[in-house]
Amino acid sequence: MNPAAAENAAGRVAAEYSFSSTKPDRVERLRNRFHQTRNFTNSLCADLEPEDCVVQSMSDVSPTKWHLAHTTWFFETFILKKFLPGYRAEIPGYAYLFNSYYNAAGDMHRRDLRGLISRPTVSEAQRYRGSIDLHIDDLLSDADEELLDDIEPLLVLGVHHEQQHQELLITDIKHVFAQNPLYPVFRPAEDRALRCPDAAARRPCQFVDFEQAVTAIGNDSCGFAYDNEGPRHQVLVPEFALASRPVINSEYIAFVEDNGYRRPEFWLSLGWTTVNEQRWDAPLYWTKRDGTWWNFTLSGFRPVDESEPVTHISYFEADAYATWAGARLPTEFEWERAASGCPIEGNFVEDELFHPAAVPSTVSADKAAHELRLHRMFGDVWEWTRSAYSPYPGYRVAPGALGEYNGKFMCNQYVLRGGSCATSSTHIRRTYRNFFQPEKRWQFTGIRVARDPQ
Ligand SMILES: [Fe+2]
Repeated sequence: MNPAAAENAAGRVAAEYSFSSTKPDRVERLRNRFHQTRNFTNSLCADLEPEDCVVQSMSDVSPTKWHLAHTTWFFETFILKKFLPGYRAEIPGYAYLFNSYYNAAGDMHRRDLRGLISRPTVSEAQRYRGSIDLHIDDLLSDADEELLDDIEPLLVLGVHHEQQHQELLITDIKHVFAQNPLYPVFRPAEDRALRCPDAAARRPCQFVDFEQAVTAIGNDSCGFAYDNEGPRHQVLVPEFALASRPVINSEYIAFVEDNGYRRPEFWLSLGWTTVNEQRWDAPLYWTKRDGTWWNFTLSGFRPVDESEPVTHISYFEADAYATWAGARLPTEFEWERAASGCPIEGNFVEDELFHPAAVPSTVSADKAAHELRLHRMFGDVWEWTRSAYSPYPGYRVAPGALGEYNGKFMCNQYVLRGGSCATSSTHIRRTYRNFFQPEKRWQFTGIRVARDPQ
């Protein structure tokens, strides 16, 4: 790779950062942010055994060990190799094993073969993490203000990159555990109702109306954002209505029981082909036993809770459900406009439920009388939009390896918004654009419907 290009790219892949604190404060703040993120990754693995950490259950899934090492490679490649004088990789071969898709950073191992790599061991991967962490600490401690100006955007990008991999680590280990007939438990269940007292979301779904408006879409350069969130631009958003909350399991079961998966009139052509090829008859991880739907969760195998937002839904299923329900999926612009008035709060990974939160079945008179508004725009489940993942007007891919972070994936994918129960609350934004191919459903993906004026 070209390190200078990578450095320049970081400022464009990430938003500008303004520096006002003194050097000791600034170093302390960066170190804290770095170590909090690294430690949280380690905590996610605390109850995993080495045998858990090496399995690759499908090509989309990476072994836990690979996530641990790849996030470390990111800091080593884009910061240490550039800015730490005399730095030499302890094990040069890691660059090949743990590069994901950055062609400008060199050759890489095949993604679908990551589960065949028994060495380095899990403990060696953890040692690698510790070693790189120490080097980052040293680099920050010795850096002058000018060097910190160069390092900070890359370090913050690395933190957000690691937060993305925390989410993948969780969804990947769920897919790994789901292959095991013993249904291992990642974390025991807690009282979800107590931890998410948003009783109003249990009400029948309502629609919140929005007038036509020219809306500013995209990042405004305040704080961190990925390059794919900009440039900020104006979009005419015609009148629409958005559901007050995500679709919950009881509603989705009604679609399933109405033979939704067997009626082509609800499905896009590609979706119908996929349903039949894959023999889908329900969301991923669902099984019917003795007339009752069960699902595998990170807390084990249990009956489907009808009051939880439905999850592990492909774009095809989300679109078919919306059609069945007489609605449609929102555009990402409608979603962002609606979210502009919503606080960024909800069930995130810090809550450690690792599942969309159920809501209490009883609704108090006070809650029932609440004003009509949007609930759960953030957290719980990523919400599919009908917007293809494509560049905003004026978007340009940054030069160098880090320019490969987002731009080259703007083809054949759809945008999702709002974050999930596996997303960090410090990682999500109103302008955040996640993206997946329409047949993918191993992420915590769900549905919020919209409709045109009646
Ligand atoms: Fe990555």
